Amino acid sequence: MDGDVLMEAVRSRHSVRRYDDKPLSEHERREMERIVDVCNAEGHLKCALVLDSPDAFAGTKSRLAKFSGVRNYVVVMGSDREGLDERGGYWGERIVLEAQNLGLRTCWVGLTYSRRRLACDVPDGVRVVSVITLGHGVDDGTAHRSKPVEELALVNGEPAEWFDMGMESVMLAPSAMNRQGYRFTLRRDGKVEAKSFGGAYSQVDLGIAKLHFEIGSGKGPEVWA
Ligand SMILES: Cc1cc2nc3c(=O)[nH]c(=O)nc-3n(C[C@H](O)[C@H](O)[C@H](O)COP(=O)(O)O)c2cc1C
Repeated sequence: MDGDVLMEAVRSRHSVRRYDDKPLSEHERREMERIVDVCNAEGHLKCALVLDSPDAFAGTKSRLAKFSGVRNYVVVMGSDREGLDERGGYWGERIVLEAQNLGLRTCWVGLTYSRRRLACDVPDGVRVVSVITLGHGVDDGTAHRSKPVEELALVNGEPAEWFDMGMESVMLAPSAMNRQGYRFTLRRDGKVEAKSFGGAYSQVDLGIAKLHFEIGSGKGPEVWA
């Protein structure tokens, strides 16, 4: 999927926690399987697509967080080694954006589901980074409040339009508890330093935001300092 199409998804996507009971169509299933396979291969992950299985989201935790009708999800997971959280965030968000353009709605879920009731194996040595719910939304969600760009970005030296466009896309990135705990600095050498302030899910959030930056700015991974 090209950058413009992904940027459309960045703009239109919001967390959706309520889904209707219409199962994914054959086309949606096949496309989701394909997308998850690509992300696993390119991101060195072991994500699993779970369909038609409501148990992990049937408990009190999920209800209190206002989830309903969740029957499909992607378990974002991989071998537990350095960089797993950031990679999970980056490639998991790719799954989110591709799903959005297929007409499906999503929500990243780190905590408000039952870990015990996930309907997939988690092999030894593999760690679950997060889960992404998936389905036909009852609504399209609403825009989240964003920190002002001055809190998220710093420019040393010459301003650049591509950097501003990258930051516009970062402002739309989902993050755990909508914390946006990171800063992107444009350095004098034209490279960008993306730093997280730490805390739970901060590296997942950073991976998500870095994908958004690449999509918005039109730059590839060589942009990172
Ligand atoms: C890593 C991560 C974990 C999250 N965990 C939860 C969760 O456990 N429960 C929940 O209701 N929302 C969760 N969210 C969703 C965020 O609250 C939501 O993305 C944020 O408020 C921004 O809204 P948006 O996704 O509509 O842009 C999580 C988001 C991320 C990125």
